[in-house]
Amino acid sequence: MIAISAPVIGELEEKLVLEVLRSGRLAQGPMVERFEDDVRLVVGTRHAVAVANGTDALIASLLAHGIGAGDEVITSPFTFVATLNAILHVGATPRFVDIGSDFNLDPGQLSAAIGSATRAILPVHLFGCPADMSRIAAAIGDRDVVVVEDAAQSLGATAEGRPVGSFGTGCFSFYATKNVTTGEGGMVTTDDEDVAATLRVLRHQGQRGRYEYERPGFNLRMTELQAALGVAQMSRLPDIVASRRLNAGALTEGLAGIEGITLPSEPPGRTHVYHQYTIRVSSEARITRDRLAARLRGEGIECGVYYPRPVFDYACFAAEPRVGAPSTPAAAAAGREVLSLPVHPQLTEHDVSRIVEAMRSALA
Ligand SMILES: Cc1ncc(COP(=O)(O)O)c(C=O)c1O
Repeated sequence: MIAISAPVIGELEEKLVLEVLRSGRLAQGPMVERFEDDVRLVVGTRHAVAVANGTDALIASLLAHGIGAGDEVITSPFTFVATLNAILHVGATPRFVDIGSDFNLDPGQLSAAIGSATRAILPVHLFGCPADMSRIAAAIGDRDVVVVEDAAQSLGATAEGRPVGSFGTGCFSFYATKNVTTGEGGMVTTDDEDVAATLRVLRHQGQRGRYEYERPGFNLRMTELQAALGVAQMSRLPDIVASRRLNAGALTEGLAGIEGITLPSEPPGRTHVYHQYTIRVSSEARITRDRLAARLRGEGIECGVYYPRPVFDYACFAAEPRVGAPSTPAAAAAGREVLSLPVHPQLTEHDVSRIVEAMRSALA
């Protein structure tokens, strides 16, 4: 079986986790600080605040910017549900701007969507491809709107030479399938001193100092064990990114020219880190997307549909008055056509050839 994701875990991870186990200090401590420094340096922000997972990173970021009831947050309809859950849990109202051909929020539709209640734009850098941040900034102009980036899938990606997570407040996930993983884990990056301080207070039960409660908080702390994995993984980030890009290049070469298939591409000025290698299967293809997926799985090749529908298009959200019934036809069409193929660093050349051959024989 060729898995759709596989973590790269080696001796360094084992060594650092063992170090933590032997240190006797298991929760938030020096290893978490080391991990924060490693992420801060890659993203290029003044602060990085580790939290328990990427969903918490989003929730805490919105709260740290003072976003809540009555505020509108504009985001992409084509994302993992955590993006929407975070907006709803802080009490804000989600507004959706449809996607472009890069699967990300279309900046061309953004300016008209920004209204007097808009407090934040929450672009999602989906599949490892950065959103078009310069056009998003241009659409915002001088309006008093913050940018909170859902960079859960895109650590190490850049737009016009600038790392994702440095355009506003960056939210990362280190879930088991992510390019860099701590099993579960998250991080917020920011240049804003006050936002960073508020995040640290929120993370630690609302305390600034011991028993100095400032506001109702949470327990969002990361363990030293997670951070040990994170430190080891961060040392591999350049190799992980290079390997994913190499595999993506080989897939693109092997799959070029198949009728009805659109391959992922790297928009000019942006570096894609290929968290997913996501193709589109249109009605011109020889078989349907779902039959192709079944056929690949039958041949031992895992593949995934991320995501089958716009994130709001479920009964539980339709019943929520803050969501309502938005219309985002491009996201709905993507949901019908997308298929993600394995691209992770554990793939061998032989695996890539097997994927290409299986695709060609199903579609040629
Ligand atoms: C786009 C996106 N946003 C948010 C999250 C939430 O991260 P986590 O699973 O660490 O809570 C994920 C990953 O799962 C994601 O892919």
